[in-house]
Amino acid sequence: MKYFIDTANMDEIKEIHEWGVLSGVTTNPSLVAKEKDISFHERLVEICELVEGPVSGEVISLDAEGMIEEGRELAKLHEHIIVKIPMTGEGMKAVNVLASEGIKTNVTLVFNTVQALTAARAGATYVSPFIGRLDDIGLEGLQLIEDISVIFALHGIETEIIAASIRNEGHVHGAALKGAHIATLPYKVLKKLTDHPLTDKGIDQFLNDWNKDK
Ligand code: E4P
Repeated sequence: MKYFIDTANMDEIKEIHEWGVLSGVTTNPSLVAKEKDISFHERLVEICELVEGPVSGEVISLDAEGMIEEGRELAKLHEHIIVKIPMTGEGMKAVNVLASEGIKTNVTLVFNTVQALTAARAGATYVSPFIGRLDDIGLEGLQLIEDISVIFALHGIETEIIAASIRNEGHVHGAALKGAHIATLPYKVLKKLTDHPLTDKGIDQFLNDWNKDK
């Protein structure tokens, strides 16, 4: 499973990029709205140039025609742009047209297996099932990752699964185990991936022992 970061903040992206673990970036309108200093398109280009991997930018239109127009504009910005499209009937029309033009898409706000299968059949490059938001309503987000993985494997579907709406390290572990190709992680979760209390304890112990013998 690869890691993407789910943010439009350049400082967060730069910091994690330096770890060498980032394969791409996802953004959404809520994340972009937090960035006041720069236009959406300029920020997407800046991210693409740094990360050199897939960078999702989401359309705002709700009708297929508007999504297609926005998608074409976004795709022109940089070769790494992935057009993020919401999981609706209009969205599927847009995915179908954009796919026929060779434009890659990430279908977002996926909450069940048939939505994922439908997006794949429309020609989506990626689907983004939202784990945390399912957990929030008492369902099992990680079970959805497993179910989509099984269905895609059974039917030879090449659309990649991006585990999204990730809230903690347990989600990262589960998404990897259940077959997500990618997990898109908030900065805060990425920062915790190196942590373990026994690691801290071990470092303290090694340093104490080292200093004792000096
Ligand atoms: C994915 O692409 C979305 O941007 C994101 O994972 C949504 O997460 P949230 O439910 O924490 O807002």
